[in-house]
Amino acid sequence: MKTKRIVLFASGSGSNVENIVNYFKDSQRIEIAAVLTNKRHAKVLDRCDRLGINAIYFNRHSFLKTDFVLNVLKSIRPDLIVLAGFLWKIPEDLILSFPDKIINIHPALLPKYGGKGMYGSKVHEAVKANNEVETGITIHYVNENYDEGAIIQQAKTVVDPDDTPETIAAKVHVLEYEHFPKVIAKLLAEN
Ligand code: GRF
Repeated sequence: MKTKRIVLFASGSGSNVENIVNYFKDSQRIEIAAVLTNKRHAKVLDRCDRLGINAIYFNRHSFLKTDFVLNVLKSIRPDLIVLAGFLWKIPEDLILSFPDKIINIHPALLPKYGGKGMYGSKVHEAVKANNEVETGITIHYVNENYDEGAIIQQAKTVVDPDDTPETIAAKVHVLEYEHFPKVIAKLLAEN
């Protein structure tokens, strides 16, 4: 029987979700219990279908005004809740119910390019506009403020003068795919 359960939250494409699912697919110990999404037509739902992963959709009302998500999580009893491209702020009651068990990946070197409105291509456009010579990823615990929880790991990549926001995004994704599953595995080995 698998002993550690991961729940993933995603709002969009879900390429990180797929990468994480594939990373743990032969694990005897770690299981992806479910993917939760706030987007009814998110591409991540197609990926879950193909990968044979339970997917659960919730809307803004059930997320903010009911205990629906809390009850789903309580029934799964996850060892780790992983935000992989999830765009809504996590309500305080969820954070308090799962202390030190919710982590996020941000596609920049926090504290730079974090906070409300800094997501997806906006991050890479800002990195480009500011002529940064490096960018990267930040994996961090989630607290009640966007992108401000304790940092677990960062990884860097070079930004070349001829990089575009799209090529920067591609470089960042490479880092995400390499580091995110390993950090998850390490956290689960520790708790
Ligand atoms: C990633 O760049 C992640 O860092 C950010 O959202 C993006 C999600 O990409 N938080 P995907 O849906 O996993 O392809």
